[in-house]
Amino acid sequence: KYTVLTMGCQLNENDSEKISGMLEASGYTKTDDLSQANVIVFNTCCVRENAEDRLFGKLGEVKKYKENNGTIIAIGGCMMQEKHIVNKLKQSYPFVDIVFGPHTMQDFPKDLYASIVENKKIEDILDIDGNIIEGVPIIRDDSIKASVAIMNGCNNFCTYCIVPYVRGRERSRNPQAIYVECLDLAKNGYKEITLLGQNVNSYLVSERKQNKNLNLTVKKENGEEVEVNSFAKLLRLINTIDGIERIRFISPHPKDFTDDVIDSIRDCDKVCNLIHLPLQSGSTNVLKAMNRKYTKEQYLNLVEKIKAKIPNIQFSTDIIVGFPRETEEDFEDTLDVVKKVGYEQIFMFIYSRRVGTVADKMENQIDEKVKHERFNRLKSLAEKIIEEGNKKYVGTVQKVLVEGKSKTNDKIYTGRTETNKVVNFEGNDDLVGKVIPLKIASEHMWYLKGEYEN
Ligand code: 5AD
Ligand code: SF4
Repeated sequence: KYTVLTMGCQLNENDSEKISGMLEASGYTKTDDLSQANVIVFNTCCVRENAEDRLFGKLGEVKKYKENNGTIIAIGGCMMQEKHIVNKLKQSYPFVDIVFGPHTMQDFPKDLYASIVENKKIEDILDIDGNIIEGVPIIRDDSIKASVAIMNGCNNFCTYCIVPYVRGRERSRNPQAIYVECLDLAKNGYKEITLLGQNVNSYLVSERKQNKNLNLTVKKENGEEVEVNSFAKLLRLINTIDGIERIRFISPHPKDFTDDVIDSIRDCDKVCNLIHLPLQSGSTNVLKAMNRKYTKEQYLNLVEKIKAKIPNIQFSTDIIVGFPRETEEDFEDTLDVVKKVGYEQIFMFIYSRRVGTVADKMENQIDEKVKHERFNRLKSLAEKIIEEGNKKYVGTVQKVLVEGKSKTNDKIYTGRTETNKVVNFEGNDDLVGKVIPLKIASEHMWYLKGEYEN
């Protein structure tokens, strides 16, 4: 039996589904009960410091299973690309059996076998950019919504971010492989696909720049052949797959949001009318120090351009508060953008120093108290904006993809609008997995209440 414990972003969740796939192909079955597991795998994240604290806390907890049951403890994911972490593991947590990086994940079954048969510690980490490996089996956590990685790595080097150091340079998957995976999901009854990448709108850009000899011709199920050489074209291709009703993507970078992508979102009925557009900061000065390559005005102009081209489009975002040198005025620029755009959802982060990044070495790091105070101010504003935005739904009819029963009430079912708002309503089992119209009766901050008419 095995347990996979996942930290971090949706790409990591997708990797964990592949770790599960490999383990099940090797004869293991899943358990949530750690005391029953023969193998415990941690899939780690290192984007912010709290992920580290959580890993070390949890390792202390699983030590007893190692001692009592001989459980194999394996740790993979982004944090294993950080040398100081691997050294700390070796020194303070010597009971860990296997460490592996994101680029060597496909060798995990081999490492596990060697660990069992030869009873030795295994470190399987590649410093360089690993190739994208196709064909790894996958056991998905959900039966309605699925994520599909379209690329890996990042070339942007935002100065706060560790990702380019641990995930390497951008590499895009072959469009045919993505098409086949999505087709397969549709055939297995999946309704929603989220295309994943650190920077999805640079899909195939590096390959095209390097003149890599990729096959960009996709042979479709109906025999038709189409050329897919950009993210915009990939959206159009996935939009033609019968059975898939919704397409989402995370995350695009504002600097690479080209007109052809806007046109694809407008033209493709399945692409949801919610764009996750990470802002990070509303201050041009801070954005420059972050190496984001856009100004406050450019971001706002982009939002306006998209709003003008696509009626009903909504936005969600990521914001970091307390970046080095952020002044009160800079912070107010962030609040200003939040007010102007009026997001549906805001993921807020307190700046966390990451070893090896440019921002970690910057002077004028912000005092923890100030960071928290700004975070709370942003949170209050975000809640006000979200509540205000929720009002527009009341009285409208929304298309909702029904995900299942509510966890707390047996009669209540739950689903999501295209804009990713949770809607709760009284329904029945037959509706699960379907997109149905629901009249929105009221709003409650974190969810909307819907009414279903037979
Ligand atoms: N500190 C705080 N937040 C960060 N993010 C990335 N790196 C850091 C950091 N060092 C946030 C960004 C990114 C999201 C996934 O995590 O907002 O968009
Ligand atoms: Fe990190 Fe910036 Fe790349 Fe996103 S675009 S993964 S924030 S470096």
